[in-house]
Amino acid sequence: MNVRQFDRYEEMSRHAAFAVAAQIRQKPDSVLGLATGSTPIALYEDLVKLYQDGLISFRNVKTFNLDEYCGLSTGHPESYHSFMEQHLFSKIDILKENTHLMDGCAKDPAEECRRYEAEIAAAGGIDLQILGIGLDGHIGFNEPDSNFSADSHMVELDASTREANARFFNGDIAKVPTSALTMGMRCIMSARRVILISSGEKKHEILKKALSGPVCPEVPASILQLHPNVDIMFC
Ligand code: F6R
Repeated sequence: MNVRQFDRYEEMSRHAAFAVAAQIRQKPDSVLGLATGSTPIALYEDLVKLYQDGLISFRNVKTFNLDEYCGLSTGHPESYHSFMEQHLFSKIDILKENTHLMDGCAKDPAEECRRYEAEIAAAGGIDLQILGIGLDGHIGFNEPDSNFSADSHMVELDASTREANARFFNGDIAKVPTSALTMGMRCIMSARRVILISSGEKKHEILKKALSGPVCPEVPASILQLHPNVDIMFC
């Protein structure tokens, strides 16, 4: 596990973007696992710049997002579908059919999760997975639990997660969905490389627990200690 602290968010984001760009240049048909939330926004801005400068192309890249809220239509402004369109997909040359997110409105969530995992497998698995981390240690929306969930699944969001994400819903926690679909730990841990980015001192304590405490489902990100190729970038 490589752990690197940066003084500034912009510096960390640029470093992460260069790592993604290097992956794409080395393997133009890379399969990327992507995160949403506030942390990767500057990373996506930097990727857009690298694309605009002609240094990378997403023409043959495939993407799979970690999660999606249940009950929000794809066009809802706070759906992760919309987030990805706004921050990345609409600004690069990726093909729409190569971008994948789970359908948070699927009638049968368990079937939707199975379908999604089959799609990832058919794409050859994830080459590089970008992760953020929640204040409670969640990755994707794998919340603290009594066991690690290997399968992608529907999850009830913790109160602390809904509270943290209320800022995207005009500060109104009542508007934050109570559940989400998330990639499970098997998908995340099967990625050939993982980059976790974390911004802000308020996450230092949970990061410390995740990186040097016991590997346990109460701190979901601690499972990354068992991954052979992880970069932790934080500021
Ligand atoms: C989002 C995701 C979450 C976030 C985490 C941190 O796709 O998977 O695990 O990475 O909630 O969110 P921010 O970056 O907003 O602090």
